[in-house]
Amino acid sequence: MVTTTISRCASSQLLFSSSHSISRLLPFQVSPNNGGGRRMQGASGGGILKCMAVESASSVAQAKSKSNASEIQTLTGWLLKQEQAGVIDAELTIVLSSISMACKQIASLVQRASISNLTGVQGAINIQGEDQKKLDVVSNEVFSNCLRSSGRTGIIASEEEDVPVAVEESYSGNYIVVFDPLDGSSNIDAAVSTGSIFGIYSPNDECLADVGDEGTVMEQRCIVNVCQPGDNLLAAGYCMYSSSIIFVVTIGTGVFAFTLDPMYGEFVLTQENIQIPKAGKFYSFVEGNYQLWDDKLKKYIDDLNDPCPSGKPYSARYIGSLVGDFHRTLLYGGIYGYPRDKKSKNGKLRLLYECAPVSFIVEQAGGKGSDGHQRVLEIQPTEIHQRLPLYIGSQEEVEKVEKYLA
Ligand code: AHG
Ligand code: MN
Ligand code: MN
Repeated sequence: MVTTTISRCASSQLLFSSSHSISRLLPFQVSPNNGGGRRMQGASGGGILKCMAVESASSVAQAKSKSNASEIQTLTGWLLKQEQAGVIDAELTIVLSSISMACKQIASLVQRASISNLTGVQGAINIQGEDQKKLDVVSNEVFSNCLRSSGRTGIIASEEEDVPVAVEESYSGNYIVVFDPLDGSSNIDAAVSTGSIFGIYSPNDECLADVGDEGTVMEQRCIVNVCQPGDNLLAAGYCMYSSSIIFVVTIGTGVFAFTLDPMYGEFVLTQENIQIPKAGKFYSFVEGNYQLWDDKLKKYIDDLNDPCPSGKPYSARYIGSLVGDFHRTLLYGGIYGYPRDKKSKNGKLRLLYECAPVSFIVEQAGGKGSDGHQRVLEIQPTEIHQRLPLYIGSQEEVEKVEKYLA
């Protein structure tokens, strides 16, 4: 094994507080790609850069006293463990690392938005007809740049771009990443929770035989590869920018949450194998649209608010930021819904960038994601910016709304 030190960790080291000493800084190591994992794809045959944990003395002490554990588990360390166990390959490890780096940068931009004149609108409208906020545009650039420079993504598709984009050949790998760079951006100017959402697929060239027009082969290749059902997701996650910065990820083996430790700029494992409660008394719907809903849905919401005499009404919770509303639902149980209505026949949320990734996460946590009638993960996208009604959360609560809508 060759061992070398490189400077790529410099940016996270700059985040360290000078008042906390770094007890140990292990060098980067280059080791061969170990290949052969269950969720592996597109091995390059090259080595992988490994950044071992960087720990501050006080954080280590806290971890020891809390759980008697001998070390803090960073996201980097956890990813390497998954790679060593053959759950993910070296390429996917790098893609996930680069996404976490993008999230750290976006977190910093969000926190400083009002200081650095990044509040307000950009003055442009995206392909979906929505006003772009300045931070929508900047976050999209940050996310795209991190993915491109990872050298392990072949195609990237963003909520903020017109079409999916193939990464230049000199940088490209195989993985396909779909993302919403900044979710809940209407909340930015008020410093309310926002987030980023992502999903990762392997290439799907099976349908390319159908592509006829030579001039659009590349564009078609991108669209075909991106339009995969959520059941094909290899990994999905989100980062919530709130009172804490929390990175939640699944690679198909449960759901794990990592909290950004501002003392030393690393995501630290804070929750393992998250399980959503089977039921819960919070509901999170955009109730301002009540008059536009169909009668079955109105009846469902009415019954939540006015249960039979012995029952206690549900409590409403709605931020208007899917990541924030979903994260609360994941931890406390209950249901989040963004239904179709008379004006928006397919609701508002996007299947590829929002509904499918959070549905993969919720299923991994024992919950359900539905469009009201069908599992979200079974739905084959027909358009990249396709919208879908979404009902997601505790299994019992989602099954209940499905019964009302049947
Ligand atoms: P985005 O900011 O990425 O466009 O997504 C906004 C979405 C989602 O985060 C949230 O749940 C929903 O829009 C809120 O919609 P309303 O403003 O209609 O409540
Ligand atoms: Mn969004
Ligand atoms: Mn967005």
